[in-house]
Amino acid sequence: MKSLIFEDIGKIKLIEKPLPQIVHPRDAIVKVTLSSICTSDYHIINGAVTQAQKGVTLGHEFVGEIVEIGTEINNLTIGDRVSANCETFCGECWFCKRGYINNCTKGGWKLGCQIDGCQSEYVRVPFADTGLTKIPEALSYKDALFVGDILSSGYFGAELCEIKQNDTIAVIGCGPVGICAMQCAKVLGASKVIGIDINQYRLDIALKNKYADIILNPNNDNISEIIKNETAGRGADAVIEAAGGVNTFEMAWQIARPNGIVAIVAMYEENQILPLPGMYGKNLIFKTGGVDAIHCSKLLDLIKDKKISTDILITKSYTLDKIEEAYKYFDDKTNNCLKLSITQ
Ligand SMILES: NC(=O)c1ccc[n+]([C@@H]2O[C@H](COP(=O)([O-])OP(=O)(O)OC[C@H]3O[C@@H](n4cnc5c(N)ncnc54)[C@H](O)[C@@H]3O)[C@@H](O)[C@H]2O)c1
Ligand SMILES: [Zn+2]
Ligand SMILES: [Zn+2]
Repeated sequence: MKSLIFEDIGKIKLIEKPLPQIVHPRDAIVKVTLSSICTSDYHIINGAVTQAQKGVTLGHEFVGEIVEIGTEINNLTIGDRVSANCETFCGECWFCKRGYINNCTKGGWKLGCQIDGCQSEYVRVPFADTGLTKIPEALSYKDALFVGDILSSGYFGAELCEIKQNDTIAVIGCGPVGICAMQCAKVLGASKVIGIDINQYRLDIALKNKYADIILNPNNDNISEIIKNETAGRGADAVIEAAGGVNTFEMAWQIARPNGIVAIVAMYEENQILPLPGMYGKNLIFKTGGVDAIHCSKLLDLIKDKKISTDILITKSYTLDKIEEAYKYFDDKTNNCLKLSITQ
């Protein structure tokens, strides 16, 4: 079967690999029907992910059909259409039992990093009973494509905000994660969502689709002042930092109101400064983290009920044989691409 591998730093290659096989009773083999490319894949290609294996098939964002299951899988069956979780987790360890699956002692970022991932025709999914979620009949593969990764990440950011009625939530970054976070913030009860980005095209998408009620561009707007005006002088009740830009950490705590929550979803490439003397008395709550993607069924239901949609994110589609081209296109920051879909 065709598989796109991480050959070496800076090098990917589409090669032929043998079909995957069940190696553990909790495995399933999934025929990939649709996949996507994640910014994290480039962290591997750029050599920043030390645990990534050379020769591994890339990709961890996908949907597909189960073609084989291990003997210990009781909640899934051959022929099921499933959405995959970006994290592999056992469901049984101390962390998993508390919902902190990102810290599962037997799992973590395995697919497309340490073991073969989804940029392929078939993929072996370990702990398939926790890592795969059945797609409701009313939904297409396309509807469900982003559930296990970026939509879960957006929901995670919104959930960290402990949103209460009438809350104003600021979301820094109107990329795929920010757009998902805005929709989830509304679902969780935010009455006003403020989208912030330096990319006007993305801001316009957020406003046009009513994900954000107000959009602000730091290149043109005085962010702190406008947010204060919008919140009776207080500041945002919570801020979701989904940009990871040069000054966005600082912006996040500056625009939060006293006693507000700052939820850091972004992955920074550099250390950030926490200037405690300057923020003394603001009594902020900072939350950080890799996504605990435990709400896939709920997110699929929200899509079914038309409360959330990720359709808008798919800017362009490719087929697996053109996937090297797709990786180049997604990496080109000048083409206004939000996400791609790859048909297997
Ligand atoms: N915590 C997790 O588990 C998790 C999961 C998925 C993604 N992420 C991280 O979330 C972040 C967002 O992901 P994405 O796929 O949407 O990325 P993205 O790069 O597509 O979007 C980031 C957005 O931030 C904007 N931005 C950059 N600098 C800015 C600045 N100074 N001011 C305002 N806006 C600025 C960019 O224009 C862009 O639109 C990334 O850092 C990603 O690594 C974290
Ligand atoms: Zn990802
Ligand atoms: Zn676990």
